[in-house]
Amino acid sequence: MDALDALQNRTASPRLVEPAPSQDELQEILKAGLRAPDHGMLRPWHFLLISGEGREKLGQVFAANLEPESEQEKEKLLNSPLRAPLIIVAVTRFKEHPKVPNIEQVCATAAAVQNMSVAIHALGYSSIWRTGKAAFSTAVKEALGFAATDEIVGFLYVGTPTFADRPVPENKIEDYVSTWG
Ligand SMILES: Cc1cc2nc3c(=O)[nH]c(=O)nc-3n(C[C@H](O)[C@H](O)[C@H](O)COP(=O)(O)O)c2cc1C
Repeated sequence: MDALDALQNRTASPRLVEPAPSQDELQEILKAGLRAPDHGMLRPWHFLLISGEGREKLGQVFAANLEPESEQEKEKLLNSPLRAPLIIVAVTRFKEHPKVPNIEQVCATAAAVQNMSVAIHALGYSSIWRTGKAAFSTAVKEALGFAATDEIVGFLYVGTPTFADRPVPENKIEDYVSTWG
């Protein structure tokens, strides 16, 4: 698939099933992520791969730490990682740098997530970038082995879509773009 086609036509898929990308394909996807722009070449990102039974353990981490208010909500948290065969957790581990504030390090990690989501699309799979309460919970971060000061930028759910990609939304360029000077 050509690069412009992948960039312009990627869509998110909320329900993803097996197969996930193969190990070789996953290497390509991660290589695309690692080519994100990165001020100061700080490499502030870390990517945690969760699949198989790891997803059940992730559901248990969510249920134990996100204070569900009902059995139904607890069940939802337990099952939420099962919505895809592979989850890539993208985390920023901030580095001290006189010219690179934390927001730029989050931007670099976010660019890596987007590079990966486009690569996933180009390989014929799909993904959805999710955050929610789980991304902002210190307890979840620590249960996954990160520090409270790290930032979960996204859970990228990856797999094969269960229905055809939804149509690409119409974007009118003039609604978002103007010229100056
Ligand atoms: C930082 C970030 C966090 C997001 N968190 C969620 C989320 O928690 N749940 C969700 O349904 N979509 C979330 N989205 C949006 C989806 O990934 C997706 O972009 C959206 O459903 C629109 O689909 P599209 O990407 O095909 O236009 C998030 C997107 C970004 C960039």
